[in-house]
Amino acid sequence: MPESLRILVVHGPNLNLLGSREPEVYGPTTLAQIDSDLSARAAELGCELECFQTNHEGLLIDRVQQALGSFDGILINPAGLTHTSVALRDALAATGLPLVEVHLSNVFAREEFRHHSYISGVALGVISGLGPRGYRLGLDALVEHLRR
Ligand code: DQA
Repeated sequence: MPESLRILVVHGPNLNLLGSREPEVYGPTTLAQIDSDLSARAAELGCELECFQTNHEGLLIDRVQQALGSFDGILINPAGLTHTSVALRDALAATGLPLVEVHLSNVFAREEFRHHSYISGVALGVISGLGPRGYRLGLDALVEHLRR
């Protein structure tokens, strides 16, 4: 029996407020619900999952750096850091781990400053605008990629 895949799920700043934060943009689902749905899907897929959220860029970078050696892939919603953080992109690239970038909202249908992502260039793929379902699709795609 091969060892099960380990996936790190990373949520960036302000995603702890999901459910009450701009519900017309991000919907009613809370982060706890997203994480529990992902855990259920991970169990179906036979992989291990750890979820992490922080509002602090440095802590996020520390967590990503630590992923090397203990995780096989990263599912990340970098939130506002998507559009600002070269340092987060560098940390993700340094791990060399495959990653999928997820956004709840369709960032391309929103303000122009959200159209650019520092993260997409080091991602396997990007899912934007499909709400919480995007995380599940991202997990499926990541696991399929790792098993291929
Ligand atoms: C977001 C989109 C970002 O532009 C924004 O800063 C977020 C959430 C999304 O999931 O749609 O915080 O990543």
